[in-house]
Amino acid sequence: MKILNVIGTRPQIIKFMIVRDALEKVGHDVITIDTGQHYDYEMSYLHLISFNATPPEINLDIRYNMHGEQTGNMMMALEKYFNDISPDYIFVFGDTNSTVAAALTAVKMNIPVVHIEAGVRGGERFMAEEINRVVTDSISDLLFCPTELAVSNLIKEGYEKSKIFFTGDVLYDLFLHIKSKVNINDIKNYYNINENDFFILTMHRAENVNEKNIDLLIDIVQSLNKKTLFFMHPRTKKLAQQTEQYDIMKNIENLEIFEPIGYGDMMGLLLLCDSVLTDSGGLQREAYFAGKKSVILRDRTEWKELAETRWAVPAGFNKEKVLKELENKNMENKKDIFGSGNAAEKIAEIITEKRGG
Ligand code: UD1
Repeated sequence: MKILNVIGTRPQIIKFMIVRDALEKVGHDVITIDTGQHYDYEMSYLHLISFNATPPEINLDIRYNMHGEQTGNMMMALEKYFNDISPDYIFVFGDTNSTVAAALTAVKMNIPVVHIEAGVRGGERFMAEEINRVVTDSISDLLFCPTELAVSNLIKEGYEKSKIFFTGDVLYDLFLHIKSKVNINDIKNYYNINENDFFILTMHRAENVNEKNIDLLIDIVQSLNKKTLFFMHPRTKKLAQQTEQYDIMKNIENLEIFEPIGYGDMMGLLLLCDSVLTDSGGLQREAYFAGKKSVILRDRTEWKELAETRWAVPAGFNKEKVLKELENKNMENKKDIFGSGNAAEKIAEIITEKRGG
């Protein structure tokens, strides 16, 4: 079978590799198109290095404009390639503009769509990601869910059971794969850190990145009792430089600012850190895999399983709450919420059975 993956952003560049490997292992032809949504090296192909993986075959190099223009430009370019390649399936990942652009283009051309990370719901309709999730699920032919909760969300919304599969989270597969390869001592030396003696900080969500929140974040970071490593997304850096808050942050004693880093380094840091302060959906799951608590710089999280077990607790930008939650390590015992680390294999197996091999 010919399978076409469409990716575009940092989390998708991380996820497609393991799915590509699993599909190729059972004999499928896999081609990958990168829309180019994330174009900085640190946001894209840097992550391939941790896996010694080859980059996608095609890069559309479509940069950020307004959401409509970005999504529309992607659809126009994808249509041409879908026509030329004529795949049996289009695989899309997660909840980004690249995901919805590919799914919409495919469905209009009668090409079956497979959604990896289906059924996730945050209930926040003002977020681009939530709209992208709901739209993509509604036009996908196969819905591969990372958790049982995602399965039940889809069932509640009336989806046909025969389309829905619990596979587990491909991010968990990746984590297990990389965990055995990370050189913890190299990471300790390079970042000059001691075990359990630092926090990891990331903040990039469109609805979060504004001057007021950066002020609140500065106040929070100044009150933290541990060294904090801030891996700054280009959007956050751009605004902070414009408002001169970047200079203020550079002078905070316990704060160290970095460009986004590779996947392997980040997983190593997660294994070593005390806790994580983030608004990322991926990082809070990865922190859980590493056995670390996340405090979420949002009022809600779509990973409700993590909030309920107190592994990822939303605190917004409320300093008191953030500080209290970073201290409070009353999480429930870990369970296999995200499957058993064989999601990519399961996906390959199901897709192969669907087509009779
Ligand atoms: C996207 C996803 C989000 C995901 C995130 C992971 C959507 C709607 N959102 O948001 O769900 O969590 O990726 O990182 O698709 N930029 C650069 N260099 C880059 C990439 C982006 O400078 O390599 C700049 C863009 O020019 C733009 C801003 O960052 O100004 C935001 O880029 P955008 O494509 O909207 O993606 P994210 O905010 O990263």
